[in-house]
Parts: sequence; C-alpha cells; structure tokens
Amino acid sequence: MKKQESIFSYDIYDSASDLTKADAELLIAARAVTKNAYAPYSHFHVGAVARLINGALISGTNQENASFPAGICAERTLLSTAASLYPGLAIDTLAVSYHNENGPSTSPISPCGICRQSLQEFEQRTSHPIRLILSGQEGPVFVIAQASALLPLAFTADELS
Ligand code: THU
Repeated sequence: MKKQESIFSYDIYDSASDLTKADAELLIAARAVTKNAYAPYSHFHVGAVARLINGALISGTNQENASFPAGICAERTLLSTAASLYPGLAIDTLAVSYHNENGPSTSPISPCGICRQSLQEFEQRTSHPIRLILSGQEGPVFVIAQASALLPLAFTADELS
C-alpha cells in the first residue's frame, strides 16, 4: 500500500483592487454580466467572463428553466459559447461572480461539480490551463491557477481510448 497525496493551493486577495489591471477588468465584467442571468427560480444570478488567448472577451450567465434540470450554469454557457464562436481556441482566464437576491454576495463561489468536469475537458482539448478568478460583488477574490485542480482524479477522455 502507498499513499498518494494531492495538494491544492490558491491565492486569496482582499479585494478586486489588489488584482492586476487585466484581472480586475475581467472580474468587474463578470460582476456586471450577472444582470443577464435568467434565474427566476433560484434568484441566484451567476456571471462568467473569459479572456481567450487571442484577447477576445466572452461571457456566459446561468439560464434556468421551469423543468429545473434543463437549466445551465454560467460556466457551461460560457464554454459552449467559446467553443462555438472560436473553435479550438483556449481560454486564458475565467472570472466568475454572482448576485444572490436572497442574501449577501460577498464571498467567492466556485464551480459546481458538472462545471468542473466541463472545465477539465475544455482545458484538455485546448491543451491550456484555465486560470479562475472567483469573487462575489465585493470582498475577497480567489485565484486558482488551473481549473482542473478543482477535480482531482477526474474521469477524462483518456479513459475512453
Ligand atoms: N450556478 C452557476 O451558474 N454556476 C455556479 O458555479 C454555481 C451555480 C447556477 C445554477 C443555478 O441556476 C443557480 O446558480 C443556483 O444553483
């Protein structure tokens, strides 16, 4: 028997003003785009904005449905948009923010399990890590160097070959 250890670390900034100009711009855009979410059921509006490696900015928001499982998270909306508009192009950095109608929006959220799976495969298919910037409408900011670090021991495309 041997033990395998997986170490996960990330950076915490006190606020958006401590970020580089480029990162702060992305996060501010993610905060703003929460207004485009369609979240009449959860009242939890999520916004995601990515900078692609060609410098283009694209956004995604959560889009809910009366048939709840038909809803889609902001992150996967964004990944589908990126792959559709810029096929094959990698994402450099992705900022995610939210506005919660029922409570404060002051601490970061991180992608759900399904989105972690989708982010992992997007990184793999474009051979490029996706940096994540996570924050509410204000307050601390988490920066994670690579989205797939959120999904250790992932089931990947390699397993199907
Ligand atoms: N949601 C996202 O869009 N991204 C996340 O990272 C977490 C959750 C959405 C799904 C649903 O529309 C609402 O937030 C509440 O779960």
